[in-house]
Amino acid sequence: MVKRIGVMTSGGDCAGLNAAIRAIVLHADAHGWEVVGIEDGTLGLYERPMRARRLHPEEFDGILLRRAGTILGTVSHGDPFAFRMPDGSVVDQSDRMIEGMRTLGIEALICIGGDGSFRILDRLCRKGGIPLVGVPKTIDNDVYGTDAAIGFNTAVEVAVEALDRLQPTAQSHDRVMVLEVMGRDAGHIAIHAAVAGGADICLIPEIPYSFDNVAAKLTAVRASGRSFSLVVVAEAVRTDKGEPVARPKPDGGIRYGGIGQWLADRIESELGIDSRVTVLGHVQRGAEPIAVDRVVASALGIHAVDLIASGRTGTVAVWSRRSVGELPLAEVVGRSRPVEPDDILVRTAAGLGIYVGETAACPAVP
Ligand code: F6P
Repeated sequence: MVKRIGVMTSGGDCAGLNAAIRAIVLHADAHGWEVVGIEDGTLGLYERPMRARRLHPEEFDGILLRRAGTILGTVSHGDPFAFRMPDGSVVDQSDRMIEGMRTLGIEALICIGGDGSFRILDRLCRKGGIPLVGVPKTIDNDVYGTDAAIGFNTAVEVAVEALDRLQPTAQSHDRVMVLEVMGRDAGHIAIHAAVAGGADICLIPEIPYSFDNVAAKLTAVRASGRSFSLVVVAEAVRTDKGEPVARPKPDGGIRYGGIGQWLADRIESELGIDSRVTVLGHVQRGAEPIAVDRVVASALGIHAVDLIASGRTGTVAVWSRRSVGELPLAEVVGRSRPVEPDDILVRTAAGLGIYVGETAACPAVP
């Protein structure tokens, strides 16, 4: 019989994490289990004294459900097998973290994270013989096997709200407004926002585009008598020459940002249309969760506890067709969920006349 489980949030934060933690704590309590919240992902297990604390149902009195961020804190690094030390060296700290979980008396772990977090924790928990269940969260919505990851819908809402605010000022000034949104290598936020926010152009990393056709679309909008346009571009879109617009991160990896400015500059210089760019950035992550994210987070949190109770660990709880299910971690880890060229959102966007790039779904630009 499980008596105590651990929960951690890992990777970039997003809206709905506290709602998921709440569901886990309340449902674990109903099973008669204790929940230990580990702070700052694997960092809490590495440090001595460890940073972890009992989470009590009374803490979740209705306020935290609504609050953005994560009460546990999170980090986007901290691979136990390649742990970066203060002096810059990279050391395997997996034994120390496993020993930490044993000291805390954790008999199973729930990780609320993305694909990268699942990969490192799957390896750690397998080595330590500690059952693991993953709960998918990421505004990028690129976790394989789940229709929605926690945080995605709120991020889309923020982007649509931005377009709603850009439209009147675009109209007042006869401008092209370029909105750059997050999503890393996936264009889910961009394509959803473009459809819901009435954009004219939406560029995503999964679909190539031609600047000539961007220009043709903007020219066609003007010729139709409308003097403003809205453009959504996902952060990982490359220039039309295929060059990435990104900078290296100090600890490895890359940081996207700048394609919106590149596009706006190009539109201004080649078409002579006054253009401005808005980079939404982390505003998409820090919003209070909208209802659907609270619902998905709650359902996935409850299901994660049920998976432990029924011994179906080594899995990721997923949200699919308005219900919960689970997939083996091995099936989810290392795979991604890009926007497919025949995705319903791509077809819908193209059907609305939005230029989404060079895809069969997109009719020739008028
Ligand atoms: O993966 C979520 C995400 O918000 C991406 O959309 C974005 O590229 C990245 O994280 C930003 O990471 P950081 O918070 O480390 O700047």
